[in-house]
Amino acid sequence: MSAPIGVFDSGVGGLSVLREIRRLLPEEDLLYVADSAHAPYGDREAQFIEARSLAAIRFLVERQAKAIVIACNTATSVAVESLRSRFGIPIVAIEPAIKPACEATRSGVVGVLATSRTLEGANVARLAAEHGRSVRVLMQPCPGLVECVEEGDLDGERPRRLVERYLQPLLEQNADTIVLGCTHYPFLAPLIQQAAGATVTLVNPASAVAKQLARRLEAAGARRSGAQAAGSIVFCSSAPASSEAVIRRLWSADAEVRPLP
Ligand code: DGL
Repeated sequence: MSAPIGVFDSGVGGLSVLREIRRLLPEEDLLYVADSAHAPYGDREAQFIEARSLAAIRFLVERQAKAIVIACNTATSVAVESLRSRFGIPIVAIEPAIKPACEATRSGVVGVLATSRTLEGANVARLAAEHGRSVRVLMQPCPGLVECVEEGDLDGERPRRLVERYLQPLLEQNADTIVLGCTHYPFLAPLIQQAAGATVTLVNPASAVAKQLARRLEAAGARRSGAQAAGSIVFCSSAPASSEAVIRRLWSADAEVRPLP
């Protein structure tokens, strides 16, 4: 493996970002940390989230990662500045796509689906203040959805009921653009789209994150060239027996799944 790109999330959700990175940078080796044993981060203390994020990045840096992607809105919200200040390599972080959603809305109402912890963060308040001046930005915390995705329940009764409950106030207030502000939620996009209706646009920033990563690698002269076959390894902190099947289902490409030591 050449110097890989390291990506992490509280669990399997960040695979929705990893697939965009794989698509845009097929020649790069990828390492992914799924901290599924501790998901959801959204219910945890900030200190705990920061400590787990730090441990994940250290683990990836020890394995020669040349850049890190924080594929977790919650970790970004709580700890991005402190994490960036500790490492000398590019750290690209995901955050809710409030700006493009505010630009896209026609009804003037945007809904943001995210974890409670993400919505409490200063960066979401800043994004809404900067880009939502002439738009109403409605924040909707979605407890329970991360757990559904972690269990591989993408279209059952439980996620369906939760999605309908969380969308209802947004649709009642005429939101026509919905931000998927947690990397687990793109795996529920078919369900969310069905419940929201075809006229509602879902916004997922994962491909923008992959593009930003490509730009940072380019600028650092760290982009891998050549046509060697690249690999993906997923390290998971929960019992592989319970998570491996979910990871294989969500990540349809080839990947080695290993326990996180
Ligand atoms: N995928 C994470 C995010 O984007 C979920 C956080 C959590 O575990 O609560 O926020």
